[in-house]
Amino acid sequence: MDGWIDVGTQEEPTRGRGLAVFLEDGREVALFNVEGTLHCTNNVCPHVRGPLGDGHLEGEIVTCPWHGWQFNVRTGECLDRPDRPVAVYPVRLEEGRILVDPGRPAQPSGPGGALGA
Ligand code: FES
Repeated sequence: MDGWIDVGTQEEPTRGRGLAVFLEDGREVALFNVEGTLHCTNNVCPHVRGPLGDGHLEGEIVTCPWHGWQFNVRTGECLDRPDRPVAVYPVRLEEGRILVDPGRPAQPSGPGGALGA
C-alpha cells in the first residue's frame, strides 16, 4: 500500500529550524531542511512529548525546545540518551510537493528530499 502523504510545498521548511506538520490521522511529523536536503522525524520527542519541529536546528542536530535533548534528524539518534532515538521517515519531492511515509521508518542513511541549489 502506498503510504506517502503530501505534507506541503518544498519552500516551507526553512534552513535552521524545523517545521511541525499535523497529519489528518493525528500523527505528527517534523520536517528539517539540512543544507538543502529534507529530513523527516516524528514530531514527538521521546522524552516527554515535546515538539521537535519547534526546536532549533544546527547542521543535522535539532534541540528539543522543552528540555534540550538533542537528536540527529537524519539518523534519529539521541545524543543525550542513545536508548531513546526518535523515528525517522522517508522523504521525497514530487513536482514541488513534499511527500513523507510516516508508516515506514527510514534507514538512517536513507533518501532525503534534495531541494537543489
Ligand atoms: S520533551 Fe524533549 S527533551 Fe524533554
